[in-house]
Amino acid sequence: MAIIEIENLTLALNGKNIIAKLNVEFWEGHVHAVVGPNGAGKSTLASTIAGLSGYTDFEGEIRYNGESLKGMNIDERARKGITLAWQEPARFEGLSIKSFIMASSRENDESLVLRVLDDVGLDAEDYMHRSVDRTLSGGERKKIELASILAMRPRVALLDEPDSGIDVESLERIFEAVDILKRDGTTVILITHSLAVLNRAEHAFLMCDGNIIDKGTIDKISKYFEDRCIPCDHKNMPNKAEIKETV
Ligand SMILES: Nc1ncnc2c1ncn2[C@@H]1O[C@H](COP(=O)(O)OP(=O)(O)O)[C@@H](O)[C@H]1O
Ligand SMILES: [Mg+2]
Repeated sequence: MAIIEIENLTLALNGKNIIAKLNVEFWEGHVHAVVGPNGAGKSTLASTIAGLSGYTDFEGEIRYNGESLKGMNIDERARKGITLAWQEPARFEGLSIKSFIMASSRENDESLVLRVLDDVGLDAEDYMHRSVDRTLSGGERKKIELASILAMRPRVALLDEPDSGIDVESLERIFEAVDILKRDGTTVILITHSLAVLNRAEHAFLMCDGNIIDKGTIDKISKYFEDRCIPCDHKNMPNKAEIKETV
């Protein structure tokens, strides 16, 4: 069953349509990947679903459990269970990691902090009392935000480029966290241009120039990575000779 249904979604930023008449459905409890070249509009799509300020004035329809998200701001959507990782880290600057994670959870339970830090592969004793600040590496920060999402137990988790700034070993922990989310029934939407991340999904969508231009199995969509694009007459289609030189 679809938990998110998007129909003819159009979103303009600074007067330019970044998303244009996009249609897609995401299924409850499944792990989806949206792949596509830089600038395709992937982060914009995620921001529009989450309702970030500046992204709520869309045309078309986004339904969540059958209910329109039109006019609903990010906090209302978050309360209904939609969460987007790695877009607004500055909001929590200076909080202790423990408080940051507790603030995400509905339960006032310190053992939860230990568990979710462990789930993302961080030593809780070391990290609990540190602050969410610039002394954390990009990878640590990502893991802490992911831990907060595990504590939150959202119904929909949008993860924008979960592999960026992450080493191979840490990426495994991120994948384990995605498995935990799925086990808990969360619908996961992975925004990525990594084949490794795509391979962890159950359904794949190819985004280009503000639209979803193909969807299907991981195998089908992973062909995009072979040529770093799919054959089409679109302006983004790279010249084959250039691909051979740069790969
Ligand atoms: N605030 C903005 N104003 C105008 N154009 C924007 C804005 N944010 C993003 N864009 C443009 O929208 C397009 C899609 O960006 P984005 O969603 O970040 O793509 P992706 O995440 O797929 O790399 C890009 O061409 C980008 O330059
Ligand atoms: Mg992006």
